[in-house]
Amino acid sequence: MNQDELKQKVAEAAIEYVVPGTVIGIGTGSTANLFIDELAKIKGKIEGTVASSVASAERLKGHGIPVYELNDVDEVSVYIDGADEATKHLHLIKGGGGALTREKIVAAVAKKFVCIADGSKLVDVLGNFPLPVEVIPMARSYIARELTKLGGRPELRAGFTTDNGNVILDVHGLQIMEPTKLEAQINNLAGVVTVGIFALRPADVLLLGTAEGVQTLGGK
Ligand code: A5P
Repeated sequence: MNQDELKQKVAEAAIEYVVPGTVIGIGTGSTANLFIDELAKIKGKIEGTVASSVASAERLKGHGIPVYELNDVDEVSVYIDGADEATKHLHLIKGGGGALTREKIVAAVAKKFVCIADGSKLVDVLGNFPLPVEVIPMARSYIARELTKLGGRPELRAGFTTDNGNVILDVHGLQIMEPTKLEAQINNLAGVVTVGIFALRPADVLLLGTAEGVQTLGGK
């Protein structure tokens, strides 16, 4: 099976985690897109969705699936999203698509976070994938200097503005041995909006698409 087929398998498997009659949080990226297409087949069973990006909201609406503002819902039963890297501890790097801030907000609200990824995303140590950091534009140079002090090589994502009007620094060369510590440390820099480490609020379940089938890590 190729990578796209593995993504399709986890997208299908994630349907099992949809809680009927509730609002579902929807992530961003190619795997989340496949999940949206699967969700469309059972759209009558849910109340609606909140989306972590403009792009996902558009895709959901295209299927006729209701999309609510997060401020207008009391509860998100489950959040389903992809990742750029994941460990067996369910710590993640996210933000390859640039939607990390809204993804982290929806993940924080959701009762359960189900991460869906093809098996190539599983790593022993996070950091081979450049770590995205969303930054207020005026703080860009300062944050880049601070990230360099932490041992990384930050690069401005050229020509990219987030849905929130900010820029992204992609930090190369990190070996993230203590994800929760580094997440807190980078979060604390003035001017950082969000760092793409998801460890303080990790996934609750990781569905991994492999040649042997979909593997489930974490709780049910
Ligand atoms: C979006 O900002 C990211 O966090 C995505 O979840 C991540 O890039 C995974 O994308 P794919 O499903 O396309 O690999």
